[in-house]
Amino acid sequence: MSQQPIVLFDSGVGGASILKEIVERLPYEHFIYLADSKNAPYGERSPQEIINLSVKNTEYALRMNAKLIVVACNTATTNAISYLRTHYQLPFVGIEPAIKTAALNSEVKRIGVLATKGTLSSKLFKQTSEAFTQGIGVVEVVGKGIVEAVEGGWTSEQNFLDHLNIQVQAFIEEDIDYLVLGCTHFPYIIPQLEQLLPPHVKIIDSGRAVAKQTETLLMENKLKTSSTHPGEVEIYTNVDNVFHLKQLTKEIPNAVVRRDDF
Ligand code: DGL
Repeated sequence: MSQQPIVLFDSGVGGASILKEIVERLPYEHFIYLADSKNAPYGERSPQEIINLSVKNTEYALRMNAKLIVVACNTATTNAISYLRTHYQLPFVGIEPAIKTAALNSEVKRIGVLATKGTLSSKLFKQTSEAFTQGIGVVEVVGKGIVEAVEGGWTSEQNFLDHLNIQVQAFIEEDIDYLVLGCTHFPYIIPQLEQLLPPHVKIIDSGRAVAKQTETLLMENKLKTSSTHPGEVEIYTNVDNVFHLKQLTKEIPNAVVRRDDF
């Protein structure tokens, strides 16, 4: 039983989509979310840079007395989680593209994955993809400029829609029936993707699975809070985007957004 916080981190505002799912599932826990927007996007960085940034975020989380860390970023998970698990004692939950679910459910046996370059080129992603997509066609597209648009708050602009439309053509041409969102920034563009893709394409992300895994690890490690009151939800950003983050997290009860350097 622990009243210490669960700390989540992402390269920026994207992981707030995961925070929402986890707060819904574990409302009595104390959460701290770190939006490392100063260093976004991680997706175009080298594996070593992604490890270094993940270590920096982990050190900050430890100073905040974290009992468990959720790496709310596919790029950081696929490139750095094994390093973090080897070098730190506390439990880590990661997020990976939900290709297994898509592959199991696809009727046409063709699925799409939209993710960052860092995720799609990682060893972990390749291993997972090989293990779960035997006999399934996988159309991989590196999302370009999407993270920047979600960070900057211009995803409703026509220019962005035109740019996104070019990127989803490969999914339309290959006639996929499942699209896996392999980046935590991308749930914020689901309405735009639904507008551009044929209506039979189902869009899935890993938010719920991560929330479930977080609860499982808390139980296994006897770290669940004994509180029966809604917990604090503190969100920290290291650039001047407090207003934007407040908008993105307005549905999360108790969420408070602050600026800090980390
Ligand atoms: N949100 C992150 C992810 O899930 C990374 C985006 C980026 O910084 O490139 O992959």
